[in-house]
Amino acid sequence: MDKFLVRGGKPLRGKIEIGGAKNSALPCLAATLLTPETVTLHNVPYVKDLITQRRLLEDLGATVLTPELRTHKVTARNVDIFEAPYHLVKTMRASVLALGPLLSRFGQAKVSLPGGCAIGTRPIDLHLRAFEQLSAVVSLESGDVVARAPKGRLKGAELEFEKVTVTGTENVMMAAVLAEGRTVIRNAAMEPEIEDLAELLNKMGARIRGAGTPVMEIDGVEGLGGAEHTIIPDRIETGTFIVAAAITDGELEIKSCRPEHLTAVIDKLREAGVEIEELNQSTLLVRRSPAGLRASDVITEPHPLFPTDMQAQYMALMTQAEGTSHITETIFENRFMHASELVRMGAEIHVAGNTAEVIGPRKLMGAPILASDLRASASLVLAALCAEGETLIDRVYHIDRGYERIVRKLRSLGGDIERISSGIAETADEAAGAN
Ligand code: UD1
Repeated sequence: MDKFLVRGGKPLRGKIEIGGAKNSALPCLAATLLTPETVTLHNVPYVKDLITQRRLLEDLGATVLTPELRTHKVTARNVDIFEAPYHLVKTMRASVLALGPLLSRFGQAKVSLPGGCAIGTRPIDLHLRAFEQLSAVVSLESGDVVARAPKGRLKGAELEFEKVTVTGTENVMMAAVLAEGRTVIRNAAMEPEIEDLAELLNKMGARIRGAGTPVMEIDGVEGLGGAEHTIIPDRIETGTFIVAAAITDGELEIKSCRPEHLTAVIDKLREAGVEIEELNQSTLLVRRSPAGLRASDVITEPHPLFPTDMQAQYMALMTQAEGTSHITETIFENRFMHASELVRMGAEIHVAGNTAEVIGPRKLMGAPILASDLRASASLVLAALCAEGETLIDRVYHIDRGYERIVRKLRSLGGDIERISSGIAETADEAAGAN
């Protein structure tokens, strides 16, 4: 397994381009299964989860061409398998996004129960209940979810999610676009990735209104066609680089981002003493304020509030802020695994239930540490960049799932980080020696 060796203490300076949003590219790639025509997606990030998603599409019988590294042309004309196998689903939970489109277009789908990040139990019961409301018959057979539309086509329905679910909302949107009649989704997720998916689906001929609000209306159509679409910038990568500038006391110009997609993050970081200037609609200039970083409490909530995917990075920052901050995680249980690693580096953090108390500032010292999930890995890299001495981060395959060429990007900004390869290439990027 690859490791990162980080020698901390160097301020990051320079310009950085944000890539396409992983969490938007994943459902958009799944949506290509809804039509026999070609769908072209631009700005698909070059990360491991997208390589997995591509493999899933190909396993199902779709053809995927990449005329450029970040452009995918998918033609799902000859799809003849309706099953996402365990070996793919276990590495990436988002494989369940194949369920909605397969069920919608072919009236049948089989997907293994998912794995993915080790951040608590992450059921898909809400997805399945919603499919049932769209008239699907759902059963569990030897670890696989099997879903069928009784007469080959789902029926529109009014449904309400009892809890906000991002991929659940996306799955139901993709199931409903080809269903007979109207579907109304209440308590829908409002993440920018939902709006991006709706935009793509509408370009393909779907009739979706209200994406980005809690109530979405979808009028089913007989068939969908090809389309061309550019994936939105990754708001979590953007937030991670904002924290990187602040935690290392450097200065970064962050380009090709959409600040309006991370208003809650920007507001919170400003409150905590990070200067964030909008140079234009897609460029931010970020540095620590001369008065320094201040502790500020945060609670993770569904969009448009503070995202759980920025919680770990924010915790790393709070170890350097003056005062005591409380970080409350309401979306996932067991999402504080980075806390004990930060403590190994010298942070003072007390976890009680779903709240972590961070007392700062504390000087961080390099140490051997272990990455436990995607965003936790980002938090540990940030901590290592500001720590004194060398940090060796193990299990960095987690970070490869969602951050494009992170080593190369950080090095271009003056970060002293290198990948120590186990000799076994785990991503195409590694194989090409890109990091
Ligand atoms: C997505 C994101 C992930 C992000 C998360 C929350 C993708 C590919 N991943 O994950 O990066 O951290 O949203 O913003 O977009 N739940 C149930 N039953 C279900 C579905 C969800 O109980 O059927 C619970 C989950 O356990 C969790 C909460 O609902 O407590 C929210 O999960 P959800 O929004 O579904 O997360 P994902 O879509 O998996």
